[in-house]
Amino acid sequence: MPLVAEAKVIKQEKIASGHYRLNLAATDIAEEARPGQFLHIRCGNTLDPLLRRPISIHAVDREKGEVVLFYRVAGKGTALLSKSKRGDTLSLLGPLGHGFSIPENLAQVSVVAGGIGIAPLYFLLQEMAMRGLSADVFLGAATEKQLFFCQEVKNFGHKVIPATDDGSAGYHGTVTGLFKKFLSNNDTQSSSVRHSDNARIYGCGPPAMLKQLSEIIKTAGIRGELSLEERMGCGVGACLSCACKIRSGESGVQYLRACVEGPVFPVGKVVWE
Ligand SMILES: Cc1cc2nc3c(=O)[nH]c(=O)nc-3n(C[C@H](O)[C@H](O)[C@H](O)COP(=O)(O)OP(=O)(O)OC[C@H]3O[C@@H](n4cnc5c(N)ncnc54)[C@H](O)[C@@H]3O)c2cc1C
Ligand code: FES
Repeated sequence: MPLVAEAKVIKQEKIASGHYRLNLAATDIAEEARPGQFLHIRCGNTLDPLLRRPISIHAVDREKGEVVLFYRVAGKGTALLSKSKRGDTLSLLGPLGHGFSIPENLAQVSVVAGGIGIAPLYFLLQEMAMRGLSADVFLGAATEKQLFFCQEVKNFGHKVIPATDDGSAGYHGTVTGLFKKFLSNNDTQSSSVRHSDNARIYGCGPPAMLKQLSEIIKTAGIRGELSLEERMGCGVGACLSCACKIRSGESGVQYLRACVEGPVFPVGKVVWE
């Protein structure tokens, strides 16, 4: 059930140029939140921007009652958010949306993150670690400096396989190129597990990356889920500004709201234009 909370800023850290991590005191939201869900945030106390901005829940600390966000400054709202400091109050609405599913008997998990796409996937990886699961994490960025949280993800017990566009760290190329290579190298080794119900691929990143990843996952015949970052208005299902084209039945399509039925959708369901 979504909650409206006035949350105190515990701390805000600049992680890299234009990238911030924000800890907020929000006990009830931390308790309820599930990986893949997001918060709709009033970024400041002014009327401009008027609308809240959607930001994924990056991590929770249920003992401390804290919710953590990781975001990139994209425009007015996030620039304003980056000015908030310890002791300030922010209005939150959430947790919102339909997050990632984590079946009980998962045996093989791959996580593919492009750039800021690590934001919601980090919470998923935190949750998996708590359940004793380990994942292969394919982390892509423009340069080494933008490969965020490699060590923290390793500390959770996951394996990190990086890719950078400029070749400054890991595979030289896109994270989808790296992932495709990984799948073809491991094709026979574990195919029975991979094609079973116990394997999952989870992805988040820019639309072009998700479109490519979607093709790769479908071709490989593995189940996967993607988190889409549609533009949003109300965040609660009323304005329809976040409508996504989703396959329905054998050959039909329907429009579903990313803020309510998403932002996470099964790979095969998303219709890419
Ligand atoms: C469910 C969801 C979860 C998200 N989680 C995160 C997160 O964890 N961290 C993070 O950094 N960002 C996240 N985003 C994107 C974030 O909401 C936008 O960057 C933010 O709303 C931009 O607001 P602004 O006022 O700063 O910029 P605006 O002035 O509104 O826009 C600046 C630029 O960003 C583009 N933009 C705005 N919204 C989006 C969007 N949804 N997707 C792609 N481009 C957009 C605009 O087209 C414009 O070019 C998420 C979006 C959604 C829908
Ligand atoms: S943002 Fe208004 S319906 Fe989704």
